[in-house]
Amino acid sequence: MTAATWTLPTGSPHAAVIGLGVHRAERVVPNAAIVDAIDSSDEWIQRRSGITERRWVGPDETLESMSLAAARAALTDAGIEPAQIDAVILATCTNTQQITGLAPRIAHLLGAQGPAAFDIAAACAGFSHGIAIAADLIRGGTARHVLVIGAERLSTLVSETDRGTAFIFGDGAGAVVVGPSDVPGIGPVVWGSDGEQHHAIELSADWVEAFGSEDRTLPHIAMDGAAVFRWASYEMAKVAQLTLDRTGITVDDLDLFVPHQANMRIIDAMAKAIKLPDHVRIARDIADQGNTSAASIPLALARMYADGTARSGDLALMIAFGAGLTYAAQVVRIP
Ligand code: COA
Repeated sequence: MTAATWTLPTGSPHAAVIGLGVHRAERVVPNAAIVDAIDSSDEWIQRRSGITERRWVGPDETLESMSLAAARAALTDAGIEPAQIDAVILATCTNTQQITGLAPRIAHLLGAQGPAAFDIAAACAGFSHGIAIAADLIRGGTARHVLVIGAERLSTLVSETDRGTAFIFGDGAGAVVVGPSDVPGIGPVVWGSDGEQHHAIELSADWVEAFGSEDRTLPHIAMDGAAVFRWASYEMAKVAQLTLDRTGITVDDLDLFVPHQANMRIIDAMAKAIKLPDHVRIARDIADQGNTSAASIPLALARMYADGTARSGDLALMIAFGAGLTYAAQVVRIP
């Protein structure tokens, strides 16, 4: 048998984030508006989570409209035309129209030329999974420009009377364009899962069970807050350190720490455990945005640009974690 010669793609030596865009849901919901239904107080919520208010969708906003707005802003920021996009990756766990994924429609509405387009469901870790996949697609020669979107409409799936979750979650979208680069712009990913704890954050029932039941109640997000808190505070600090080690840098080389905005206490616990020096600026977008799952890292980064905390060229450690349980982290040179 003669050995066939195949034509295989050659990738770029490196990949980098070249543009960022976000959309914050328009409705501002202060703690005062939700405390009565969960017998809580503004003071308790701020002390336990750092959240003062969150953003929820307005009457005209949808997962699609938020994804589209963030994606358009990212393309503009990158100076890339929709036709140059080879793949669209949408990270979300709140697309309630499960069949089918939203990414192909977003690609179409953007005016892209039929790129590969698919959703990934890695919950709060979804955006960092998307960055990892995009970087490998570009380095492997499968794509030149990849649009990664993290978008969530969590308010739809929150029970207003669930004391453990009603105050945590928010809505929004963030997107980046990842493209080829001559110098490293996205470091190696450290990712993984702990499926043994899959019940720690999940829907209260699957859709078929919920609508087959007598009261036909919409399922809602249910969470074992203490278990998630323990896991995130201790295990994720180890993942953060491993990410720096694999990248070959130390905390001293960082400019920014942009963790998933789950809870202010988790952010502080991680920063302390990895001994972040004072010069590293820490993202704290959760205070008035809430936890937006897959959208939280790009939203947090955009806030840092807007208030002057982040500057182009800064080195950021991004770490995302959540339901699954899943996690992913990488060092990124920000555009
Ligand atoms: N308002 C007021 N009191 C509340 C409350 C609420 N919303 N929820 C619980 N409490 C009370 C409890 O009844 C309990 O009272 P007791 O001590 O008199 O029995 C006390 O507060 C502690 O309850 P607990 O459930 O242990 O709270 P906690 O300290 O674990 O805080 C969370 C709850 C949700 C803030 C916390 O577990 C957390 O942040 N977990 C991580 C969640 C997260 O980040 N998820 C997203 C991951 S992607």
